[in-house]
Amino acid sequence: MNVQLAMQAMQAKKAGGTATVLLALGLALSGAAQAQTQTQPAPLRLDVPYVPTPDDVVARMLEMGEVGADDFVIDLGSGDGRIAIAAVKDKGAKGAMGVDLNPERISEAQENAKKAGVTDKVTFRQQNLFETDLGKADVITMYLLETVNAKLRPTLLQLKPGTRIVSHAFSLGDWRPDEQANVNGRTVYLWVVPAKVEGRWTLTDGSQNMTLDLKQSFQAVSGDATVNGRRTAISSGKVVGEEVILTVQFDGRERTYRGKVDGARIAPAGTDTWRAERG
Ligand SMILES: C[S@@+](CC[C@H](N)C(=O)[O-])C[C@H]1O[C@@H](n2cnc3c(N)ncnc32)[C@H](O)[C@@H]1O
Repeated sequence: MNVQLAMQAMQAKKAGGTATVLLALGLALSGAAQAQTQTQPAPLRLDVPYVPTPDDVVARMLEMGEVGADDFVIDLGSGDGRIAIAAVKDKGAKGAMGVDLNPERISEAQENAKKAGVTDKVTFRQQNLFETDLGKADVITMYLLETVNAKLRPTLLQLKPGTRIVSHAFSLGDWRPDEQANVNGRTVYLWVVPAKVEGRWTLTDGSQNMTLDLKQSFQAVSGDATVNGRRTAISSGKVVGEEVILTVQFDGRERTYRGKVDGARIAPAGTDTWRAERG
């Protein structure tokens, strides 16, 4: 019921007579319903209310995400556009996009992008963050809620290895951050999407073949290495974006393999000559 129709019902009550009141209320409700179906858009169902991130926190988020000239940044729930705009204006990102369900926020963000002179590189779209294609992002920024982050997490984990995710205030549950900072009492988290290494690999190091059976939990890697039928536990393992680092102990000697995951291969870092392939 809109304010004017509700007022009419209240005025009828003042004038006396229950029948009059009921009639006025009925008219008001049916009028409101009609008005809603005819002219009003469906009410906005925001998953998170609008609260802007302070500028010093924005600056730290972009710093932690190492935003630079090669990066495309997507801000999920972009509010007045400050993060996407700063990514381009202050960090020289090649482009940025903000999405928000609230059309008022989108207009405000577009206006701010105009004032900042970055409309050629920053766009804002009125759309649901859960229906947004994130494949183009090198860096994702967000100031949402723990529950919203939890719902987004499976999608974030499927992004290309090395994609940085920066969140103001809210974590991703048991996916531990790669970095965490405190900015005037506010927490900023950074995650780097890890390459998928779980499964069997054959690592060839000189004349030696090693079978690696890897288990992965987010960035942490564990498992076994088998050489000449002898099995040993991997003493430490982790994935940082596309890079995997595994330490194995054999015959009292420790070896660390550091390489870049490229689909079904791991290429060694530097001048090392070992190689690993899936299967
Ligand atoms: C806490 S504010 C953050 C604004 C901005 N990112 C910042 O840090 O200053 C969250 C924003 O998410 C938007 N929002 C809420 N639910 C959304 C959804 N499902 N899809 C897109 N935007 C949403 C709200 O309109 C609001 O502007």
